[in-house]
Amino acid sequence: KVGDKIKVIYPDKDMPYQAAVITLSDKGSRGERVDTSGPKASEILREHGFEIIEEILLPDEMAQIKKELIRLSDSRQVDLIITTGGTGLSPRDCTPEATLAVADRNVPGIAEAIRAGSMTITKRAMLSRGVSVIRKKTLIINLPGSPKAVKESLEYIIDALGHGIEIMTGEAGNCAR
Ligand code: MTE
Repeated sequence: KVGDKIKVIYPDKDMPYQAAVITLSDKGSRGERVDTSGPKASEILREHGFEIIEEILLPDEMAQIKKELIRLSDSRQVDLIITTGGTGLSPRDCTPEATLAVADRNVPGIAEAIRAGSMTITKRAMLSRGVSVIRKKTLIINLPGSPKAVKESLEYIIDALGHGIEIMTGEAGNCAR
């Protein structure tokens, strides 16, 4: 009927969306601390329908982080990479720099939403330098490095991620609703 909105249905590509979780922690990678932030991120993502295809623990080393981000985006072609840790002001923290170094496009609203939401919980949220970007058809989001911060941060963004990934991968043509 004229005037009706047309909704184009695309074939169900590869639901559920695939995600990888990378924990950045010098102590964790040396076995001096048990990583609970990565597992917390995976747990929440699974609850929201993501399939976790890799969980990785790395030291705060720029070259290693870049290498894994590139492998997961270009070879594994994962839809979403969540990193946790290494976003603060310590001289070793380099997750945002590694992420920006491999990025094709910035998606600032996701990091903005995390910081804005988290600021209502703790003023220290301003100390996370986390970024959110796209490399090829992979969305990469930096979260701070504690299970509490992971849970709080994901709460502010998780409901919009599916739609973002749908647009990014070309499964949905536009935002018609
Ligand atoms: N964001 C939320 N939601 N909750 C938190 O507890 N901690 C902050 C901030 N963001 C926090 C948060 C603190 S104390 C720091 S130092 C920065 O994240 C950086 O954390 P990172 O170095 O572990 O990445």
